[in-house]
Amino acid sequence: MINLIVACDLNRVIGKNGKLPWSIKEDWDYFMEKTSGGSMVMGKTCYYEFEPYADGRELIVLTHNVSSKFAKAQAANSLGHALSLATHSPIWICGGEKLYEESMPIADRLYLTKINHSFEGDVYFPDWEKTFPRMVSCTKLDTGKYNLEFMVFEKNT
Ligand SMILES: NC(=O)c1ccc[n+]([C@@H]2O[C@H](COP(=O)([O-])OP(=O)(O)OC[C@H]3O[C@@H](n4cnc5c(N)ncnc54)[C@H](OP(=O)(O)O)[C@@H]3O)[C@@H](O)[C@H]2O)c1
Repeated sequence: MINLIVACDLNRVIGKNGKLPWSIKEDWDYFMEKTSGGSMVMGKTCYYEFEPYADGRELIVLTHNVSSKFAKAQAANSLGHALSLATHSPIWICGGEKLYEESMPIADRLYLTKINHSFEGDVYFPDWEKTFPRMVSCTKLDTGKYNLEFMVFEKNT
C-alpha cells in the first residue's frame, strides 16, 4: 500500500522557504501518528526539515546525487529505487511538490488535511481531484485558531 500524506491551505500552499508555513500541533500529531510504523519517502528538502523527528522510523530520501549520505535515512535516486528500499507497509509519500506529482499515479490513497486559511508560500500541492475522486472519510476539527479537515481519498476502482 502506498499513501500520499499532505497538509495544504485553501490555495494548495504546502511550504515556504523549505519549511511548513504553519505550526499546527493537531495536524503535526496526526501526521506523526499516521506515518508511524510505515516507510517514509521524501525529497531532500523535506528530509532536512523532518530529520529531528526521524528517530525510530524508516526514512528514504530522494536525491539525484547518488553519493549523498543522510544521518537518519537511506538515499535513493528515483521513486522506483526508493520503493525498492522500503521494508515497512504502508509506504508514506511525504512530499515535496515533484514527488507528490510523480507518485500520484501509483498511490492507493491520499491523506489530505485541508487548512481553511490562506498562507504565503512557494511550494504547492498538485491537482489531485481527478486522480483521487472518492472521499472515504472526513473529520473536521476546530483548533481554536484554524478549521481543519482531515480527509482520506481513494481512486475509483
Ligand atoms: N504541508 C505539507 O504537508 C508538506 C509536505 C511536504 C513538504 N512540504 C514543504 O514543501 C517544501 C519542500 O518540498 P520541495 O518540493 O521544495 O522539495 P523536496 O521534494 O523535499 O526536495 C527536492 C529535492 O529532492 C530531490 N528529489 C525530489 N524528487 C526526486 C526524484 N524523483 N528523484 C531524485 N531526487 C529527487 C532533489 O534533490 P537533489 O537536488 O539532491 O537531486 C530535489 O532537489 C518545504 O517547504 C516543506 O515544508 C510541506
